Amino acid sequence: MKTIFSGIQPSGTLTLGNYLGAMKHFVELQNDHHCYFCIVDEHAVTVPQDRIQLRKNIRSLAALYLAAGIDPNKSTLFIQSEVGAHTQLGWMMQCVAYIGELERMTQFKDKSEGKEAVSSALLTYPPLMAADILLYNTDIVPVGEDQKQHLELTRDLAERFNRKYNDIFTIPEVRIPKVGARIMSLTDPTKKMSKSNPNRKSYISMLDDEKTIMKKIKSAVTDSDGIVKYDKENKPAISNLLSIFSLCTGKTIEELENEFEGKGYGDFKQALGEAVVETLKPIHDRYHEIIDSEQLDDILDLGRDKADAVASKTLAKAKRAMGLGRKR
Ligand code: TYM
Repeated sequence: MKTIFSGIQPSGTLTLGNYLGAMKHFVELQNDHHCYFCIVDEHAVTVPQDRIQLRKNIRSLAALYLAAGIDPNKSTLFIQSEVGAHTQLGWMMQCVAYIGELERMTQFKDKSEGKEAVSSALLTYPPLMAADILLYNTDIVPVGEDQKQHLELTRDLAERFNRKYNDIFTIPEVRIPKVGARIMSLTDPTKKMSKSNPNRKSYISMLDDEKTIMKKIKSAVTDSDGIVKYDKENKPAISNLLSIFSLCTGKTIEELENEFEGKGYGDFKQALGEAVVETLKPIHDRYHEIIDSEQLDDILDLGRDKADAVASKTLAKAKRAMGLGRKR
């Protein structure tokens, strides 16, 4: 069975983009893969976080993973900072990475542009991400399209380490969904839907209530011709909404185009809003059952121990290969 690893930052409530681009696929993959899903809190602190809010977000993300269908009997769910091997191997991967390649990362450029106090960890974010993945002998990393560049770098760093020291790391493959790899903002279809966008109308949070979802979908921008047709180049807004609709219902884009032929955007948005509500409602219900339960802590304790057992072994091999510490 192949091994899967993926992570999500606890940096705010997840958006529908995170769900459709990543989490939904994790749930499907866990049936026939050996899966590790991580709450990457050490990545979240590369930008300023309020400590009380961060704690809340970590727990909330753990509950959302479970509410969305991650089954702790099939997958290992854990918090990055509770498994020390991540930052240790992260440091070692920093020693393998070059400043130039880190500075070329689009995410670094976007997040640091025009800012004065940029943490050095924002630059060294990808070597930590590489460590996350490489510690578990990961074969496949399912992510949205925005993480593709980080995955390419992870492969380069793993190959470089293997060549320089010893052939230890499995070279991971990236898996990006065909539809929904980049869900766009509802207010600007040229930007990705993001939980860090200050305009709350631009995204649907996985925990938005029914009224809010309907309101946000109804106020989503569209073009002026009123025709429900997928055309990413010329009609990016309606194409984005069609992708969301398709992912929420399982209907193909073509089926949806036929269904809404001759109807206006009003009907389309009403039906889309209902489809999104229907997708998120069962997740909300389960989330509220889980969030304050002791069971959540038990699952995270168990996940930490399982992850730690595998990660420590890989870390020990990597240290030996680099010549760190004493020979034992
Ligand atoms: P993060 O927390 O920004 O996002 C989590 C996952 O959601 C995907 N995603 C999207 N997919 C489609 N449309 C969107 N608008 C959208 N926005 C986000 C992301 O691609 C991601 O799959 N660096 C990572 C976290 C990470 C990681 C890892 C991932 C740390 N270590 C190791 C994989 C493996 C991040 O910031 O994701």
